Amino acid sequence: MDYDKILSRAAREIPPSGIRKFFSVVEDDPEAISLGVGEPDFVTPWEIRDAAIKSIQKGYTAYTSNSGLKRLREEISEYQQTRFNARYCPDEIIVTIGASEAIDITVRAIVNRGEEVLVPDPSFVSYSPVITLAGGVAVPVACSMENGFKPTAEALEAAISPRTKAVILPFPNNPTGTVLNCAELSALCEVIKKHNLIAITDEIYAELTYGESHVSAAALNGMRERTVLISGFSKAFAMTGWRIGYVCAPREIVSAMLKIHQYAIMCAPTAAQYAALAALSCGKETHYAAVEEMREKYDMRRRFMVSELNAMGLSCPEPSGAFYVFPSIKSTGLTGGEFAEKLLKAKHVAVVPGDAFGSAGKYHVRMSYATGMNKITEAIKRIGEFVKQ
Ligand SMILES: Cc1ncc(COP(=O)(O)O)c(C=O)c1O
Repeated sequence: MDYDKILSRAAREIPPSGIRKFFSVVEDDPEAISLGVGEPDFVTPWEIRDAAIKSIQKGYTAYTSNSGLKRLREEISEYQQTRFNARYCPDEIIVTIGASEAIDITVRAIVNRGEEVLVPDPSFVSYSPVITLAGGVAVPVACSMENGFKPTAEALEAAISPRTKAVILPFPNNPTGTVLNCAELSALCEVIKKHNLIAITDEIYAELTYGESHVSAAALNGMRERTVLISGFSKAFAMTGWRIGYVCAPREIVSAMLKIHQYAIMCAPTAAQYAALAALSCGKETHYAAVEEMREKYDMRRRFMVSELNAMGLSCPEPSGAFYVFPSIKSTGLTGGEFAEKLLKAKHVAVVPGDAFGSAGKYHVRMSYATGMNKITEAIKRIGEFVKQ
């Protein structure tokens, strides 16, 4: 059977995720420490798990409405407004299978064949393949370490063509941890408005910032009508395995996305929706104390890693958000891919090559600090020995 003739060209040509590459090696190696995965090492807070268990005990096991439980969408609406001043009504929200599905249905709802979407480079691995699968063209906007991996208005403007439809604003950024302040975000939004583009903002790390607060593009003047806000519960609430996220957008855009979601997904898992409802409603009373506790732990690990990596000669800018560091490994004479492979072989520490997130990451690796402090300390010790060698 000639499977090349059976598979679509797009499915054949998109690369497998560069993050998952080392997973099987790590799983089979008892000595290995993984700084590769982008998921919290914490268990989902008990009230959230309990709410899901109770929903199952009560027999809430049927489909919900396609767009998700009304009460959950009301909570999301209130949460986004009070935390980030992003104003979307419950009927402008769809509960999705993680932010991942939200990214997919957003792109599929707005991109026509051949239309371009600007994607900061480096950024999360799924944007470009999802754009390709929708028949669009991902256009990288290179971001340099010297500029804190922040895209400039000039770089954005230079990448725009008559075919440009949308810009992805993935801040706080995975893999760099970059956060944009209000002035920096406003400068990009002015370009987006001037060229009548859509902003797709992936705000899944909005709760995980250190020092600088997250600013949502949807809260900026004239942006709500052209912003699709994507977020979810995976990172801040330690809920990766529940597969629950959401998208907020003006009614007309949400209606188009809902059609795709209806046919492809039906609705997000019901128990996970009850869990998400508890995450927002219980957390409100304590100002999201569980989230804050995790954030403080990430912050401590972040400061430790940045200072250790710089001390061993790997230039590592201080990230202001998410839970990754993205040091340059250029001083070792290796590319990120070579560094990751040799480090795993010699010292059993898994990191992700920076070019998994775009070509601007060629001389970087991503290390996640969503791992216990004892493992981080041991991994840093081994990385130090490796770099010395
Ligand atoms: C920037 C970014 N967006 C979206 C996702 C996907 O999140 P979810 O688990 O909600 O699908 C991730 C996961 O790593 C991410 O880093």
